[in-house]
Amino acid sequence: MLPKWFDDWNAKNPTDVYRPAILVGVVGAAVVVAGLLVAYGQPWPTQSLQTGPRGTGMHVPDFVAVAARPDPTVAAYVSPPPVEPAPGEPTAGEAYENAEPLLASLPQSQYDRLVGAMREWTGIPDLLAGEENYQTVVARRMIQMTWLLNDAWSGHTNAYADDGTNAGVNCFTCHRGQPVPAGIWFDPGSTVKVMAGWGGVQNRVTMLSQFTSLPSDALQKYLVEGESIKVHDLESRVEGRASDPDYIAWQHTERTFSLMNYFSNSLGVNCVFCHNSRAFYDPGQVTPQWNNAMLAIQMVLEVNNDYLIPLGEVLPAERLGPLGDAPKIACMTCHKGYQRPMGGFDMISDWPELTAEIVAVGN
Ligand code: HEC
Ligand code: HEC
Ligand code: HEC
Repeated sequence: MLPKWFDDWNAKNPTDVYRPAILVGVVGAAVVVAGLLVAYGQPWPTQSLQTGPRGTGMHVPDFVAVAARPDPTVAAYVSPPPVEPAPGEPTAGEAYENAEPLLASLPQSQYDRLVGAMREWTGIPDLLAGEENYQTVVARRMIQMTWLLNDAWSGHTNAYADDGTNAGVNCFTCHRGQPVPAGIWFDPGSTVKVMAGWGGVQNRVTMLSQFTSLPSDALQKYLVEGESIKVHDLESRVEGRASDPDYIAWQHTERTFSLMNYFSNSLGVNCVFCHNSRAFYDPGQVTPQWNNAMLAIQMVLEVNNDYLIPLGEVLPAERLGPLGDAPKIACMTCHKGYQRPMGGFDMISDWPELTAEIVAVGN
């Protein structure tokens, strides 16, 4: 079929056709993929939130699809519209024999609306129905705690009020329709039973160590016992022993990192959301969010020590931790993995009863 001279020439000059074929194939496929990317965009686009000055690499990156996914528990939020009390309407204290004393000066219709909402928010249908149920006693303390969080700690829970956006917290922020909120924690005690001291709390993957080998007792030490989180300065650390109580050893550094991992996971951010990572020790190089976090540390310490730990005497044994300690809160209990709880949703404007102690007003 082909001329004879061609067959001769071919036989004398054998050529490997595979190599050029592979090259053409690879280049061709790359062109097709590039064409698809240009036409349709890349399937996993990311976005990043710049948290510091330009050029410092302070970015919190996220997949667009993940960032756009709303907190699924928010959909269960119910908030009946405010009611206007009728003139001359009785207060709850006048209308009901067993009205909750803290709320008894509210007009009856407002009381009904509030108690109805609290039952939805906590998933307890007979909440505040009677003293004989411990949940009534707990709820009373919870109302006072919510006042504290919205009033004394509004610098944290309503940090952006000056921008005209109220946030704040109500029972749903923590409870999300459940009697026991997600994101509570207990003192883990020794996680390595045969060891005491530092050896007993680290190198074991636990939820409280954020599934790392870092110490599991960070929340207990920093958010209950109020130990100093600071570990970083520019001094040399060649001398000193971990057993010396005044010496900050690498064990302390690991515990601080354990807490910091917890912060990051609770808010769904990374370290540069709060720090310039070249100078963790320098409060002059932090982001504004570091200050929000500073306030939160004090807020959580107060709530745990003054409100939740004393409730351990009221709660039934099955609500207590392995060491018999009361359930405690921290960042996760409100934030649930998001930068702002409920996506920064306004939890208080429709619920002034929960923003500060109710003082009786006539109507
Ligand atoms: C800052 C988070 C937070 C807020 C806000 C909060 N709670 Fe709680 N609540 C907790 C924690 C933590 C517990 C202890 C969990 C347990 O009982 O095991 C708890 C427990 C309770 C319980 C006992 C549940 C049970 O079955 O043991 C009741 C009742 C309750 N809360 C009512 C309320 C009410 C009502 C509000 C709003 C006025 C409220 N809480 C607001 C964190 C919160
Ligand atoms: C939500 C804000 C926030 C995030 C996120 C955060 N930190 Fe922190 N970090 C703080 C605050 C506030 C302090 C100061 C605590 C204090 O001084 O009492 C601190 C303290 C520290 C310290 C000790 C500084 C010193 O003065 O000795 C180190 C180290 C540190 N963080 C590392 C990290 C690392 C690593 C990450 C990421 C895994 C991280 N942080 C994420 C807020 C944050
Ligand atoms: C009682 C509930 C509650 C707890 C507990 C809590 N926060 Fe918050 N936090 C809030 C609310 C509500 C906001 C939103 C404030 C606003 O938008 O005005 C917020 C906002 C923040 C912000 C600012 C976010 C931004 O977009 O600028 C940071 C940072 C923060 N919290 C860190 C923490 C850390 C760290 C902890 C634990 C030590 C913590 N929070 C514990 C309720 C809580």
